[in-house]
Amino acid sequence: MDYYQLLFAISAVVLAIYYYYTSTYNYWKNRDIPGPKPGPFFGNFWGVITRKYATATVVKNWYLEFKHEPVFGIYEGRAPLLVINDLELVKDVLIKDFSLFMNRGLPIFEKIEPLAQHLFLLESKRWRPLRSKLSPTFTSGKLKEMFPVVVECAGNLEKFLGRVADNGEPVECHEMAAKFATDVIGSCAFGISMNALEDEDSEFRKMGRKISTDFKFVARIICRQLAPSLMKIFGRFLQSPEIDNFFIGLVRDTMEYREKNNINRPDMIDVLMELKKHPDKVNSIELTDTLLAAQAFVFFIAGFETSSSTMGHALYELAQHQDVQDKLRQEIRDTYKKNGGTLTYADIKEMKYMDKVFKETLRKYPVLAMLTRQAMENYTFKGTKITIPKGMKIGVPVYGIQADPDIYPEPEKFDPERFEDDAVVARHPMSFLPFGDGPRNCIGGRFAHIQSKVGLTTILRNHKFDVCEKTTIPYEPDKRTFVLSLKGGVNLKISKAQS
Ligand code: HEM
Repeated sequence: MDYYQLLFAISAVVLAIYYYYTSTYNYWKNRDIPGPKPGPFFGNFWGVITRKYATATVVKNWYLEFKHEPVFGIYEGRAPLLVINDLELVKDVLIKDFSLFMNRGLPIFEKIEPLAQHLFLLESKRWRPLRSKLSPTFTSGKLKEMFPVVVECAGNLEKFLGRVADNGEPVECHEMAAKFATDVIGSCAFGISMNALEDEDSEFRKMGRKISTDFKFVARIICRQLAPSLMKIFGRFLQSPEIDNFFIGLVRDTMEYREKNNINRPDMIDVLMELKKHPDKVNSIELTDTLLAAQAFVFFIAGFETSSSTMGHALYELAQHQDVQDKLRQEIRDTYKKNGGTLTYADIKEMKYMDKVFKETLRKYPVLAMLTRQAMENYTFKGTKITIPKGMKIGVPVYGIQADPDIYPEPEKFDPERFEDDAVVARHPMSFLPFGDGPRNCIGGRFAHIQSKVGLTTILRNHKFDVCEKTTIPYEPDKRTFVLSLKGGVNLKISKAQS
């Protein structure tokens, strides 16, 4: 083959790939559905892939541009995806017509990433029975039993604060919260003391950091979402055997140890052991060790990454709003005083101002910018002529909805009073979706409330948080993370609060 033939062949291949990836890009235009212009190969996610923008920023900008339309169309890679703005339509998808939208539509490549067979990603056939068997992990009874363990981990947090307060150095509060959350999830899900706050080199914190920063982990998420066909070709180069072996081995060893020593604890391993003993309870699913470990794995990542981001964001806002911080500290101190210096499960539920601060934090900084579902049948949205085919994915732009000035006036302002009972009732229920909604909402939502609120209560009771030169203001989301996080971390000055 001479030079010109080679050049011709390469150009033909590039053109064919280009044509393949852009051939769907008239889908929305042909149906008169507006939307942002896609770019080659990655559709509307070019800016996210090249790290020009954070996912959250992109979702918010799309929403604010098209919010007066009931829906708008984007492209995830070459696949058309319909984003819904109309809150009644959101309710139909998440709740009323859930049976037609049970899946998130994210493919799993089990051979490449065995731990991806977890609740968040599983298809309806395996998801439905597993979800109903795993839900008892977080009943109020179980949460009450776990409560002392959470408080014990908070004790380590208090010791940590004692070491770092008033030493003049800013503390990265997202990392501090991640260590606390790792300890909590370790004890409550695995029954193992992880000691991340005491031990810098704790195996679990190292594993957590590895997952958050692992290039292959991130590359798999991108491939799965934007170019699943590439996963089949390049997937074997994206495996993370160290992470897989760690979790599969950990869950198997913990189960074996408990079985041998006849140990029962109110935690997730216990629920998984019950499932293993009675596989008939989850008919039609093969309960392999890997499938069980995958459920523990998702509780681990969801448990520390989301709660620590939320606690970090709460401290970031409280440091900038000393009046809110003082009011919250007063409520915390009054609660302890009432109980002679202890904290109970009921106290956490009764702390009204804490609840408002927690919710306003999640309104301003929802962990997931967009929820997704996939149509299981052809579907026509009620009261419209918009029909989507079976298999199409739907997006709910949470970060946009929660930053909409028509729903939350002055959305950039941190104002816990937005969650006064009357104000909440006056808003559409789908205007606040930090934990999603419907049968496929966050399974750990109630646990997250307890974990984060116990953490914040302990942190704020005797310590004051202030901004310093190292604090990133104004807010800038980290473009590298999928979970919303502040670029550079939440660096704050910590001192002893006046008693
Ligand atoms: C502040 C903390 C948390 C936030 C903001 C959060 C948020 C979310 C959101 C938005 C979803 C998707 C819901 C939907 O699509 O409707 C989700 C799903 C999920 N979350 Fe959480 N989460 C948090 C904490 C936790 C914790 C502590 C756990 C477990 C210990 C957990 C486990 C899960 C799982 C397993 C799913 C998938 C549920 C399913 O598909 O059935 N999350 N979470």
